[in-house]
Amino acid sequence: MKKAFKAIKVNDHVYWVGAIDWGIRDFHGYATQRGTTYNAYLILADKVTLIDTVKAPFKEEMLSRIASVIDPGDISYIISNHSEMDHSGSLPEAIEAVKPERVFASAVGVETLASHFHIDREILPLKEGDSLSLGNLNLSFVETKMLHWPDSMFTYLIEDGILFSQDAFGMHLASSERFADEIDDDILEYEGAKYFANILLPLSSLVTRLLEKVGKLNITINILAPDHGPIWRKDVNRMPEFYSKWAAQKLTRKAVVVYDTMWQSTAVMARAIGDGLSAGGASVKLMPLRACHRSDVATEILDAGALLVGSPTMNNNMFPTVADALTYLRGLKPRNLIGTAFGSYGWTGEAVGQIKDVLSAMKVELVGEGIKVRYVPDDDALAQCFSLGSLVAAELSKS
Ligand code: FEO
Repeated sequence: MKKAFKAIKVNDHVYWVGAIDWGIRDFHGYATQRGTTYNAYLILADKVTLIDTVKAPFKEEMLSRIASVIDPGDISYIISNHSEMDHSGSLPEAIEAVKPERVFASAVGVETLASHFHIDREILPLKEGDSLSLGNLNLSFVETKMLHWPDSMFTYLIEDGILFSQDAFGMHLASSERFADEIDDDILEYEGAKYFANILLPLSSLVTRLLEKVGKLNITINILAPDHGPIWRKDVNRMPEFYSKWAAQKLTRKAVVVYDTMWQSTAVMARAIGDGLSAGGASVKLMPLRACHRSDVATEILDAGALLVGSPTMNNNMFPTVADALTYLRGLKPRNLIGTAFGSYGWTGEAVGQIKDVLSAMKVELVGEGIKVRYVPDDDALAQCFSLGSLVAAELSKS
């Protein structure tokens, strides 16, 4: 496979030498229906430099792309912007194959890489404001702690105005096109939002601060080069502007109704609630959990103002799929939501109270008492469901 794969030219100095993972459908619990890419970048400076690597199974592909433009042994420096193994998994093999003069990471990255790979190789720390001469070109570094790992940092190629932003501004999108301007805008916005909702949402306040910090650096960004998905060489502010909006999590008139059902009772309640929400002027998305993945629910919640959750009671508990979705959503810490709970039961009916407890723990402002219906809802029960939807819509309209 030595030269089977080709590097893709980004500009006169930089090549993409990553890998396209067309087949991945689960990324630690996040459904990646469109696959992903692991982007690594080669800077052809006096000191040839590799920025990040790829997930371990793709290491030969990365080395092959590098070999299509230079002898991998000519690489002087490797910089790890982020230690998570989709970007560092090939680092030990790359060090072994390339034998670089120096390997760099953030100070936390040095520790994190050591804890991952236990290799006998010195990794040098870089900190905020450091610069690194590559001879004819220069790099600077921006610490982005907790975005989304403690080790995360950006690398900036000063002369060309390229920001290598690791996970930030990326998306899980496998494509033969390497540049965002070659891809449909709606796909970019949806997959960018999905990435933000499922990875960065709990860190929204840090995202806001980071955007302010990068703004104050007063740097020119000609190319935005994340570690997943396409590279931005036009409209480089588009993703940062979306990040600013998504991080603010402003209350909107959209309601997401998430539920599962055993014998269709909770499902018909969900539909009646949905009709009440619509009649009240809300935009409504019903998400039955047999048809919708938890990570797609998170994506819809990103721009929602209300979260309504329904579950039957099974063996004194909420339904397992509902517990799964709520555990996931709770971890993502969405803000500025109102909500309620509903569900059918036969004997004990604990699920609605359990859901309300989780929603309260998520700081979702509860509207009404929620609705429990024994066995199968009759017309009166469905009218109550419609009214609950209308009540939530009325609360949303106050925003
Ligand atoms: Fe793409 Fe946080 O790794």
